[in-house]
Amino acid sequence: MGIMKHGVPKLSDKLKPNLSFSRIETGIPGLDSLMQGGLVKNSVNLVTGETGTGKTIFCSQFLWHGLQKGETGIYVTLEEEPDDIKEDVRVFGWDFQKYIDKGMFNIFYHDPAQAGNISSEIINEIGSLNAKRVVIDSTATMGLAIDNLAQTRKRILSIVNTLKKVGCTSLITSEIPEGAKKLSRFGVEEFVVDGILVMNYFGMGEEYNRSLIIRKMRRTNHGKDVYSMEIGKNGIVVKNL
Ligand SMILES: Nc1ncnc2c1ncn2[C@@H]1O[C@H](COP(=O)(O)OP(=O)(O)OP(=O)(O)O)[C@@H](O)[C@H]1O
Ligand SMILES: [Mg+2]
Repeated sequence: MGIMKHGVPKLSDKLKPNLSFSRIETGIPGLDSLMQGGLVKNSVNLVTGETGTGKTIFCSQFLWHGLQKGETGIYVTLEEEPDDIKEDVRVFGWDFQKYIDKGMFNIFYHDPAQAGNISSEIINEIGSLNAKRVVIDSTATMGLAIDNLAQTRKRILSIVNTLKKVGCTSLITSEIPEGAKKLSRFGVEEFVVDGILVMNYFGMGEEYNRSLIIRKMRRTNHGKDVYSMEIGKNGIVVKNL
């Protein structure tokens, strides 16, 4: 596929949909075509970036797109209140309550300070909705209740391993501390996930721009540039031209 008998494949060939893996569209305009059609089905992907880069909007858009295609989803928030997230994204026209009422969607808060087993809670929720898309936002808060870094990493690893087994396509978010040359808060998230999307924001006064990098996407010949993105009235749009 895409390999020509003589010479190397052209970039346009390389980015053609790869039919050997089923793909799950993010639904973010401009992004799926940079990943051979979308995220690998049943993969776990990290959405990371500094604060305010659009991670929560990204995750909401991914779940909203799934609902439009009849795919059930759950949003586990370890940071913001479920009602706040639902309210904040209404401006983009995403009425999650409608799908909660239909039994196709759930959003719930998990207190990161509670030692309770988040993995079993997720499995129960996924099972009861037969969820196809899952979001965990944000793993960055998971260190709050645990002083021990190794312990926190183990917990994150256990969540990612759980997600890999349950037959869902997942997004987890983490946070890049302001100005740090890191991909996540605890330095383990990037190694255990299948894909990484890094979001950036450069702002000064009225001047600002947002961008997105596909930092890693296993089994995918993905776009390698820094892509400009915008948050507009319908959510995130990636400019891939
Ligand atoms: N309706 C909107 N139109 C344009 N931009 C918006 C709109 N709503 C939010 N934003 C931008 O998106 C940012 C918040 O996005 P989001 O909450 O997804 O970021 P985040 O990376 O999840 O941040 P956090 O670190 O708080 O978790 C805001 O700071 C603002 O710049
Ligand atoms: Mg957020």
